[in-house]
Amino acid sequence: MGHSENLTLALREARARTDELFRLVCPGALYDRPIPERHRIIFYLGHLEAFDWNLVCGHALPLGSFHAEFDRLFAFGIDPPPGQLPCDEPRDWPSVAEVEQYNRGTRQAIDAVLDELPDPLLHVAIEHRLMHAETFAYILHALPYDKKVRTEPGPAPGTLTASAPRHRMLDIAAGPARLGLAPGEGFGWDNEFQAHTVDVPPFSISKYKVTNGQYLDFVRQGAAPPFYWSDRGGQWFFRGMFEEIPLPPDCPVYVTHREAQAYAEWRGMRLASEAEFHRAAAAAGISSNANFRHWDPIPVTADDETGNSASPRQLVGNGWEWTSTVFAPFPGFQPFPFYTNYSAPFFDGAHYVLKGGSPRTAACLLRPSFRNWFRPEYPYVYATFRMVER
Ligand SMILES: [Fe+2]
Repeated sequence: MGHSENLTLALREARARTDELFRLVCPGALYDRPIPERHRIIFYLGHLEAFDWNLVCGHALPLGSFHAEFDRLFAFGIDPPPGQLPCDEPRDWPSVAEVEQYNRGTRQAIDAVLDELPDPLLHVAIEHRLMHAETFAYILHALPYDKKVRTEPGPAPGTLTASAPRHRMLDIAAGPARLGLAPGEGFGWDNEFQAHTVDVPPFSISKYKVTNGQYLDFVRQGAAPPFYWSDRGGQWFFRGMFEEIPLPPDCPVYVTHREAQAYAEWRGMRLASEAEFHRAAAAAGISSNANFRHWDPIPVTADDETGNSASPRQLVGNGWEWTSTVFAPFPGFQPFPFYTNYSAPFFDGAHYVLKGGSPRTAACLLRPSFRNWFRPEYPYVYATFRMVER
């Protein structure tokens, strides 16, 4: 069959990206569970290769498994409902040496048949891995600083700017929003199909993402502080990936869906729907803070020089944006036969759509049709929001 050089190269780059992440973890912390709702770090070490292996063996080529137990143990991540946390112990997991041996074996075996794999499977392997490069960053973010090795020198990028952004609302005219992806428009996950048009009435949307400075007013009125904030003797700090910095007031605030919704209501506004996001994003550029550029957010005004200044800023990049839309299939949805559980289990009314992308979202996932989703009370996502007038 033979692929374009690009896909082979993209797989190699994605592997380098995730390998690098594991090197941030101090060896003694590989069995830690920084996020209570997720597996221990050791699971992710085996998961990326086990996923590729299961994908290739189950749906493309009948390769003989050399470690069926690991194929199963590392097959699936978890997303428990609130209050149902996993309770496995470090001793329930294999040694790092065993997992690394498994990883070397699966990688070698997959590389030997790479040219025979269908393109869609290769896309799935690459994008699955890149999505984990982001979600694994959330996990490492929650790991204590003394258990990880800093790679980025100098201060976090969220430095203070001289003046606070002038928050204002921009009018978006009524018109069609195009959602989804049509066959032939390139690779997309099952939930991105089918393409369709939604008529959106006129609305006004904030030019910038809501900032830490704005959200601080809400906290001073009694709202709970977001997960990424720390109170140090009456001073607020942002818990960055590698260090705490005084809360940068002009950077977007990372919040849960519930917090975003409560803030918008407090301001007499609401969150944008998925269709409104598409409508607003039609003319918007991509923030420079995406595709692994930085670990933490940059000011909401940092990209003002790029693109059309009359359009909302940073709709893509510098933090996902929560929408008011419950994650559900588009008309004509069909699960991928080779990954039936990618989207369908999450069409449960308990997850909301996020659009855009974060500092740690890979370039290929910044395409307009890509949909992300999380539970409304999950606080670890690099998720921001903006407001729409009621
Ligand atoms: Fe996965």
